[in-house]
Order: sequence, then C-alpha cells, then structure tokens
Amino acid sequence: MAPTSAVIVTGGASGIGRACAEAIAAQGRAVAVWDLNTDGVLAAAQEIASKHNVSTFGLGIDVTKTAELANAVDASRTAVGPLGGLVHAAGTVRSQSVGDLDDAGWDFVLNVNLRAFPMLVQAMHSDLAAADGAAVVGIASIEGWIGNAAIPAYCASKAGMLGAVRSMADKLGPEGIRVNAICPGFIETPMLGITLDIPGMRNRFEESSVLKRIGQPSEIGEPAAFLLSDKASFITGQSIVIDGGVLATA
Ligand code: NAI
Repeated sequence: MAPTSAVIVTGGASGIGRACAEAIAAQGRAVAVWDLNTDGVLAAAQEIASKHNVSTFGLGIDVTKTAELANAVDASRTAVGPLGGLVHAAGTVRSQSVGDLDDAGWDFVLNVNLRAFPMLVQAMHSDLAAADGAAVVGIASIEGWIGNAAIPAYCASKAGMLGAVRSMADKLGPEGIRVNAICPGFIETPMLGITLDIPGMRNRFEESSVLKRIGQPSEIGEPAAFLLSDKASFITGQSIVIDGGVLATA
C-alpha cells in the first residue's frame, strides 16, 4: 500500500524544497513545510493546500537550532497527522576559500546543509519507525562529487551528507526506514540565481549539461516524491545524481 503519512520538507519556502513539497502533495500526502523565511513558508503552505487539496502546515524555524526540532516535529504531527517522511532541502552557501576561511563561516554552512539532516532524522525517529513505508531524502549536490575552489564548506557539507545517508540507511534499514540523497546539478532557483546573474555564467552552466540547459526545481521535486513513495521500496543508502549529464562529461 502506498504510504499515506505526512512528510516534513525543510527549505519549503523556495526553490527545490518548495518543488518537493508540491510533488509530494500532488501524490495526496499532507506536508509540513519548514523554513527560516516565515512569511514565505506560510504562503507556500497555504498555496500548496489549496492547489492539491491536502493538509499543510507552515513553520518558520531555523533548522540548525537542534533543541527546537522535537517541538517542531510535535507541532507538525499535531497539524498534519502521523509523519512518515522527510526531505531536507534547507541549504545555504558561502563563498570562502582557503585563505579566508573562518570557524563561523565553516560552521554556518555545515550546520544547515549537513548537521541538521541527521538531527532531524533523530527528532523524527519514533514517527518514522511507526510509519509504514517511511523514507527520508537529503538534498545534496554534484558539488559533493566534484571540487569547487570557491566553496569548500559547501562541497564538504554535500559530500558529508552522502556518508550520513549510508550510515543512517544501515542503522534504520532494519526498522523499515529508507534513507537516500539526491545530488542535483544546476537548478533554476534563487540560490543559483545569484551566480546566474554574473555575465557568462548562465551559458557556462547550460553548456556543462549534455542536455544544454539548466534544470527546473520540479525535476528534483518529482524524483524526491518518488524516493519517498513505495515505488522506491528497495532503494536505500543511495545518492542519485540528477544533473542533466554534467557529471557524465566532467
Ligand atoms: P533556495 O535558496 O531557493 O532555498 C533554500 C531554502 O532554505 C530557503 O528558502 C532558505 O530560507 C532555507 N533555509 C536556509 N537556511 C535555513 C535554516 N537554517 N533553517 C531553515 N531553512 C533554511 O535554494 P535551492 O537552490 O532551492 O536549494 C535547496 C537545496 O538544494 C540546498 O540544499 C542546495 O544546496 C541544494 N542544491 C541546489 C542546487 C541549485 O542549483 N539550485 C544544486 C545542487 C544542490
């Protein structure tokens, strides 16, 4: 039977997280969308509910505040019902390379992109263990596979997520909980928009894909919804690259 439990999506106000929440809601599942951007996430929750006719809950939260996660999970369960899935799409990037690294910049990126993911899984553990067909997905990046001199903390956070996925898949598999990552390539979102505005960059990103284009958020949202569904019931501990073929020729 297809899982009917609700799903928490972090970073749900924008870009890839928003697209994941949309795709999951389109499967008829309730979603709790979390984001630092309170106004954005409340609007997203409302729009998704009216478009897909499912229960939604919007929550303004900083996912790096580990002590607040248990209460946020409780509030989400109260609002949208039993929880059986998670997409961790909240993410950030800071341009700081060797030479101008500092502890604060490094921790800032690692805490959002990486640490929050296992902490959230831990906060949801009893919900996931009780749900049929429970699954979680972390949004990593192709930058977890290839080096980018400008953003070592980001690359480390995304590569680290792949290790966390394998470890958590090993721990949670016997409980029926699947754990996977998606590694997107270049996707048209506000985060990439800053770089796309630099002259020549859009063309460079397009040319790096064998499909000669930048991806759309829904092209990550749909596969994330698939990985959470019972159609992916034998997939766990994996990182799936969805990049229009960038890595195929890198
Ligand atoms: P985005 O900037 O559109 O969305 C990220 C969301 O995360 C924002 O709404 C932001 O408010 C939220 N967020 C940031 N820090 C947070 C925190 N501490 N607590 C709660 N929410 C927080 O960016 P995009 O592109 O949709 O990114 C989503 C994920 O996809 C990120 O993990 C990013 O690294 C990853 N990704 C994006 C790619 C792209 O080309 N856009 C490529 C590969 C990976």
